[in-house]
Amino acid sequence: MKIVFGCDHAGFVLKKVVVNHLIEKGFEVVDVGCYTPEQVDYPRMGEKAARKVASGECEMGVLICGTGIGISMAANRVRGVRAAVCSEPYSAELSRRHNNANMIAFGARVVGEGLACSILDAFFSAQFEGGRHAARVELIEHIEP
Ligand code: RB5
Repeated sequence: MKIVFGCDHAGFVLKKVVVNHLIEKGFEVVDVGCYTPEQVDYPRMGEKAARKVASGECEMGVLICGTGIGISMAANRVRGVRAAVCSEPYSAELSRRHNNANMIAFGARVVGEGLACSILDAFFSAQFEGGRHAARVELIEHIEP
């Protein structure tokens, strides 16, 4: 599975850790930056990563900023993207099973390295359940901006 990673300066260090974690697990990674600890605007990075998912170039995505909030807000403006901010594995798992989230976001100032890896393991191990959840996700997709 090809996964896009996007972060701002606050998420730069944690991104390197979780990218390595997923590469070790056999995932293919596309990193759209940022690539240095210089300040960068999280909306630009969120949009850049989200476009890779919306276009189908990447199946899923991981977003990291200070809290995970700003970068997920930006990504969720891109049609077809469902980015879930998760600070623990249970929500990460349910965001896949019930919400069919295709991007996960977390904050480098909120979660540590071990927890971030556990969140990603829960997210990528879970499958969308469809059924009644599919109808609800469809309703989200039909909300006009
Ligand atoms: C950057 O300082 C910080 O505002 C950003 O990383 C993020 O937390 C925004 O939601």
